[in-house]
Amino acid sequence: MTILKVGIVGCGEVTQIIHLPALRQLSEQFQITALCDVSPTVLDGVSAVVPLAAKYGDYRQLVADANVDVVLVANPHAYHTSVALAALEAGKHVFVEKPMSITFSEADALQEAEARTGKTVQIGYMRRYAGAFVDAVERIKADRDNIRFARVQDFIGQNRIIIDDTSRVIRGNDIPAQSIVEHQRLTDASMVEAIGTNDPILSRAYGLLLGLSSHDISAMRELLGMPKSVLHAAVRQGGAYITATFDYGHFVCEFATGVDQLARFDAYLEVYSEKSVTRIDYDTPYVRNIPARLSITEPEGPAGVRQVVSFPSRLDSFVVEWHAFHNHVTRGTKPKTTIADARQDLEIFESIMQHLKAGSAGELSNVAS
Ligand SMILES: NC(=O)c1ccc[n+]([C@@H]2O[C@H](COP(=O)([O-])OP(=O)(O)OC[C@H]3O[C@@H](n4cnc5c(N)ncnc54)[C@H](O)[C@@H]3O)[C@@H](O)[C@H]2O)c1
Repeated sequence: MTILKVGIVGCGEVTQIIHLPALRQLSEQFQITALCDVSPTVLDGVSAVVPLAAKYGDYRQLVADANVDVVLVANPHAYHTSVALAALEAGKHVFVEKPMSITFSEADALQEAEARTGKTVQIGYMRRYAGAFVDAVERIKADRDNIRFARVQDFIGQNRIIIDDTSRVIRGNDIPAQSIVEHQRLTDASMVEAIGTNDPILSRAYGLLLGLSSHDISAMRELLGMPKSVLHAAVRQGGAYITATFDYGHFVCEFATGVDQLARFDAYLEVYSEKSVTRIDYDTPYVRNIPARLSITEPEGPAGVRQVVSFPSRLDSFVVEWHAFHNHVTRGTKPKTTIADARQDLEIFESIMQHLKAGSAGELSNVAS
C-alpha cells in the first residue's frame, strides 16, 4: 500500500490528542514527515514523539518540503485557507480541519486552486464518517418523503474540562508577538468581511457557528439535504447560545447549540417519521474511540414501541476519515466532505447571521451578558 508522507501545520490540541494517534493507527498508510508550529515549545515537544519528522516554524517551508505528500492544516481558523492554498500550489494534497474557511472569497479561492491543481482536498468533518451516521444516512435516504420533524442539538462543556483530565497537551506561551498580532489582524479582517460588522455578540455567534456548529450543520445537510431557508434564528448569552429553524418544505428542523461548563456532550441529530425516530448521538472527540450511537425507535405490537440502540462501528471517526482520505488521494476519487460541500455551510451561516442582525445587533449588545 502507498504510504503517504504527512506534513502537519499546527501541532496543538487536535493534532496531539486526535490526529497523531489516528495517523499512528494507520501507519501502513501514513507517515508523519514534517511538523510546523509557531510555538517552539509545542514544536519541540511534539517532535520529541515524532523524532524523524522535519521541524518548521513557517508553513511555507513545510509545504515546500519534497518529503511531504499531504498537508494537514490544523492551525487556527484564520490560516486554514492560506495554508491550504500554499499546499495546493506546492503540489500537495490537503486535509483541512473545520472550518475550512471564514469567508466566501476564501472558499472560492480554494475551489479555484483545487480545480486547477487537480489535488485532493478533504475537510475534516469527522462526524460524517462515524458508523452510526453513515447507517442513519442510508435509513433516512430511503424515507425522506416521510420525515415530519427533525432536531439537531449541540450543547457541550468547554473542551478543557474534558481534556485536562484525559490528556497531556503541550502548550506554548512562546508564540512570537508578531504571530499573535498577525493572527488577530487576519481573524478580525475575515470576520468583518464575513458578517459585515465587528459587533462583539454577532462576532462571537459567528465564531460559534464556525467552530462548533459547522459539525452540526454539515451533518444535517448530508442527512436531510440543504434546507430551503432559515425561518428563524436567535442568539442569547452574548453570542454563546444560538437557536435556528430550518425549512425543509414538508418539515422543519430545529437547531440549538451552546457551550457551558458541564463535562459532557449533548450532541445529536434526530429525525422523526410517522412510524420511526432515528437518532445519532456523539460523544467528545477528545477521548478516542467512543463510538457514535445509533438509536431507532419503532412500533412494537399493537400498542408498544421498541428502541434499538447500536454502535455500527467501533472505529474512531477520525481514523475512518483519514482512511477515506488515503483512498481518495491514491485512487483520485472525490471525498464527500469537499470544498464545495463545506461552502454550503457558509451559505447557511450567512442566512442565520441575517436573522441575528435583523434581531437588532445594537439592542442585543446592550442587553445580553
Ligand atoms: N474536527 C474536530 O473535531 C476539531 C477539534 C478541535 C479542533 N479542530 C480545529 O483544528 C484547528 C486547531 O484547533 P486546536 O484546538 O488544535 O487549537 P490549538 O490552539 O490547540 O492549536 C493550534 C496550534 O497552531 C499553532 N499556530 C498558530 N498559528 C500558527 C501558524 N501561523 N503556523 C503554524 N502554527 C500555528 C499554535 O501555536 C498551536 O499550537 C481549529 O481550526 C479547530 O477548529 C477540529
